[in-house]
Amino acid sequence: MRFTTLKDMDLSGKRVLLRADLNVPKQDGKVTDTTRIDRLKPTIDFLKDAGAKILILSHFGRPDGEQNSSLSLAFLVNVLQERWGTDIKFAPDCIGPKAQSVADSLGEGEIALLENLRFHKGEKANDKDFIYALAALGDIYVNDAFSAAHRAHASTEGLAHAMPCAAGLLMEAELNALEQALGNPEKPVAAITGGSKISTKLSVLKNLVEKVDYLILGGGMANTFLLAQGAEIGNSLCEKDMLNEAKSIMAHAKEKGCEIILPVDLVTVTEISPGAEAQVVSSSAVPADRMAIDAGPETIAHIKTRIENCKTVVWNGPMGVFEIKPFDAGTNALAQLVAAATQAGTLKSIAGGGDTVAALENAGVADQFTYISTAGGAFLEWLEGKTLPGVAALSSRSVQPGKAVSSH
Ligand code: 3PG
Repeated sequence: MRFTTLKDMDLSGKRVLLRADLNVPKQDGKVTDTTRIDRLKPTIDFLKDAGAKILILSHFGRPDGEQNSSLSLAFLVNVLQERWGTDIKFAPDCIGPKAQSVADSLGEGEIALLENLRFHKGEKANDKDFIYALAALGDIYVNDAFSAAHRAHASTEGLAHAMPCAAGLLMEAELNALEQALGNPEKPVAAITGGSKISTKLSVLKNLVEKVDYLILGGGMANTFLLAQGAEIGNSLCEKDMLNEAKSIMAHAKEKGCEIILPVDLVTVTEISPGAEAQVVSSSAVPADRMAIDAGPETIAHIKTRIENCKTVVWNGPMGVFEIKPFDAGTNALAQLVAAATQAGTLKSIAGGGDTVAALENAGVADQFTYISTAGGAFLEWLEGKTLPGVAALSSRSVQPGKAVSSH
């Protein structure tokens, strides 16, 4: 995929509308995970060093086009200053005179954060007037919000058609990593997919069996496949109405030469609680009063033989209820063996989406994968094989490298 990068742009003295994803987790007024902020720093530093005047656009939460002080971005000013080591101004609106006067006040290398885009209905509606109102503030649009690229909103899609645009460094890194993972991976490639339900990941599974050599399934969704194969799964979580879907995915995988790997043993409990007494049982014969809570040691050993054969692994979702110790053991063991092969240089490992990053952090290996995506929903939609509107808009507007962009 071709798209214009920051290195292709003449940024000096230009007003850059930088679409970031500052939709960070917040509890009791505090940011509980600064990953998305920290991963933006290279773009911020690049733009500052190039002498750009930086206007940061972001959404926060889902205010549905209404002003909502609990979803204001103002609380982030101090956090950004601290994480990026630079002053940040704040505009209490993202369009109109308040935004304009802050934009006018910026010198080269200075930064302002504009208020939550989703306080305006035009953002979600990808409305022309709202796009023009945003575009009026700047010279160049830089999209660094891969994690919001599955939304066709004014700031993620529309702006790319209204002004000169480029991908930010984080967007570039995400797209390059995804290309390595599924677009054009070194083979053999395995996908590790966990989580509780097939129904939420049906399109992901359908797409993956066409692309990967091994599809390793864990978590609750594996139980539905086991049941479809005729296993006794006891009280384990499963979706009985998805048995035919599971069977059709297995048949499709066979046609495509993709081996589906299911647990051969399971850690089981009678209730999901921290002190629950655990028993490892065969995955074909879970006692009626017990339920699967984690992958067992034989399963991990079996997966290891396949991973050893792989050059690429793409991971989404945990193998079990990793939030409750010691039922994180299967997820941890698998994460550690993928990390070890990555560190040994024999494997490329790309992970993202939902609980995945938390599971890898819990396993202590989040910094030992080749790439960890900052995206949740966007990563999943990409795994489904969907075109992400924010990415498509950038690539349709690519300019020749080296071509300077004029001010407007
Ligand atoms: C995310 O956190 O996944 C993105 O910021 C997208 O948020 P949304 O699902 O509210 O569009």
